[in-house]
Amino acid sequence: MSHRILLLGAPGAGKGTQSAKLAEEYGVEHVTTGDALRANKDMETEYGTPRSFMEAGELVPDPVVNEIVEAALADADGFVLDGYPRNLEQAEYLSEITDLDAVIYLDVDEEVLVDRLTGRRVCDECGANFHVDFQPPEEPGVCDECGGELIQRDDDTEETARERLDVFYENTEPVIEHFRDEGDLVEVDGEATPDEVFERIRGVLDE
Ligand code: AP5
Repeated sequence: MSHRILLLGAPGAGKGTQSAKLAEEYGVEHVTTGDALRANKDMETEYGTPRSFMEAGELVPDPVVNEIVEAALADADGFVLDGYPRNLEQAEYLSEITDLDAVIYLDVDEEVLVDRLTGRRVCDECGANFHVDFQPPEEPGVCDECGGELIQRDDDTEETARERLDVFYENTEPVIEHFRDEGDLVEVDGEATPDEVFERIRGVLDE
């Protein structure tokens, strides 16, 4: 059976970490607007470049993101969608282009989110994720997977992380309420090790 899974959560909740594991476990595409936008940061659009919004912690305009998601989902035989929808307009658009089999919300306390974001390091070469305290690489600053250099994302400074959280509470919490009202949302406690959180999500999906 193909899976169409939506993973919702605040910045730093572990969406990217868990989506990668889920995509591997279920053999589906990992569709992530954040990675797609980071790979096209300097793309010229009629609204400006994605970079200008991302470095301020703001949302990239809906038409740009909707187009990315529609193209990615059209090519996917099953997916785990991460980073979208982030406002009610995007949620409406998503409902027009696909059905979902599961909607999972990763619940994590705000101060834990800030610690996770500011301590995150990503590989400049392969994109693998680490954390200076919670998932440290074997050798500081060096990727375990490919030996590439680990860097901090431009938007993972404390100031921008808090801005992103404000944007989440204002724009994306209503999306979570929308799915909760529809009776489609399953909440998973995201405050445990990545493997424990993964087992919790797998338990929900395998039910
Ligand atoms: P995006 O890349 O989607 O960022 P985000 O939602 O802010 O999510 P993050 O990647 O920061 O967090 P995550 O939940 O994936 O956590 P992770 O697993 O990495 O978006 C970036 C920007 O792009 C936005 O600000 C916006 O400008 C734009 N954008 C994207 N989508 C858009 C859209 N739809 N519309 C408009 N604009 C859009 O984990 C975080 C850290 O914690 C890591 O270091 C990890 O190692 C660690 N960690 C993970 N799990 C655990 C655990 N269980 N215990 C301890 N540590 C953990």
